[in-house]
Amino acid sequence: MSSEKKDTKENIKVTAASEKPAEKSENGKAVKEKPAKEKPVKEKPVKEKPAKEKPVKEKPVKEKPVKKKKRNRDKELTIILSAILAALTIAGLILFFIMPDPYAGIPEQEEVSDLPTQEPEVPEPETDPVPIPVQPAISYPAPAYDFTEENVYVEIPGIDHEYTIAWVSDVHMITDFTAGDVGEASLETVRNRYETLSITPDGVHGRELWPMIIDYLNYNDFDAVIFGGDIIDYCSTSNMEALKRGFDRLKYPSDRILYIRADHDYGTWYSDGSTGFDDLKCAELHTALDGDDNTCKYIDFGDLIIAGVNLSTSAPGEDQIEVLTGLYGRGVPVIAATHVPYFSMVDPSLEELSMLVRNRKYYWNPGGDSYGIDENTRKILDLVYAEDSECRLVLAGHLHAAWEGEINFGLRQHIFSPAFSGVIGVVHVVPEGSAP
Ligand SMILES: [Fe+2]
Repeated sequence: MSSEKKDTKENIKVTAASEKPAEKSENGKAVKEKPAKEKPVKEKPVKEKPAKEKPVKEKPVKEKPVKKKKRNRDKELTIILSAILAALTIAGLILFFIMPDPYAGIPEQEEVSDLPTQEPEVPEPETDPVPIPVQPAISYPAPAYDFTEENVYVEIPGIDHEYTIAWVSDVHMITDFTAGDVGEASLETVRNRYETLSITPDGVHGRELWPMIIDYLNYNDFDAVIFGGDIIDYCSTSNMEALKRGFDRLKYPSDRILYIRADHDYGTWYSDGSTGFDDLKCAELHTALDGDDNTCKYIDFGDLIIAGVNLSTSAPGEDQIEVLTGLYGRGVPVIAATHVPYFSMVDPSLEELSMLVRNRKYYWNPGGDSYGIDENTRKILDLVYAEDSECRLVLAGHLHAAWEGEINFGLRQHIFSPAFSGVIGVVHVVPEGSAP
């Protein structure tokens, strides 16, 4: 590049030197050639070049107003935007203070609603193989009364474990001491029964014994509990309320409690017909107690059935016959539960005991005066006495004396002592060959 610059300077010098000799050698002709002097005029534009640069300097001057305009516009925009923001802020504040609180009135439930958000932790126990629910341990106090246990054993083929079943009958509880559901004229009779019938040998009356019977049942662990009739001495509001207080304290589920009634559980004999308490009111109280459904008087263990007969002091109804026929037809071992015992075809000791204790045949028997077998009772007895019957044992009360023996070849019956003597029955259903 430097060599090129030198060349240009030399060219300029060369050109200037070459023009001068041309003016001296051609003087006359040179006048005509004066217009050649106009060449400097052509060089003037060269001097004007700086003038062209001036507008360049002026350009920044022109640009200044443009920036000012933009700044002005920006200021206007910022002012407008700030105004809009201010307006929106004011509007928001107004709405905040004017609008009602959507959560007003349910502040406490909001805390509860937070709990389900913590429930996803629940699946964790599902992954655990043995989720054990925490349940408070319930301890039942030992009964204050020292009951005598009347144990009964029965071996049943096919049973692979023992069932223990409690039996309570003939408490004959009395709680009325003033006229009410009991008529004034019957009060003396009721008080006499209270002192002579509903009382243990050591002087504990039935109304005091009943709560302790419940304590005994709760203190022990039975597979089922059977109330075999005559739990109260007669039906009244007071006796039924005392009965219900005991039932309400039982720890056993309803499908493990069997209450078969007898004549004393339903009897309203002492109302004298003048107290307003009648059989209808009695039935209502029994229904309120446990439903008292004739078609539900049984306990089903699956491999063992306890088949009860309600109000066995009278002829059974068709509804019970139908249910019992179905139960005995399942091909499952059956234990019969009845308040009134059945006669023995093979053991005369039952008649002897009954005559001694009651001075009559106090059980269902052919040709009997008080418990002669009627048509419907015969249908039930046929289920029990049949050679191929599933019945393995008969449980009864009513006699107020204990007896056990065969009533048919191979079929045994146990009549329990009354609970008012301080006795509670315990039935042990055991596998074949394991009875003591
Ligand atoms: Fe009785």
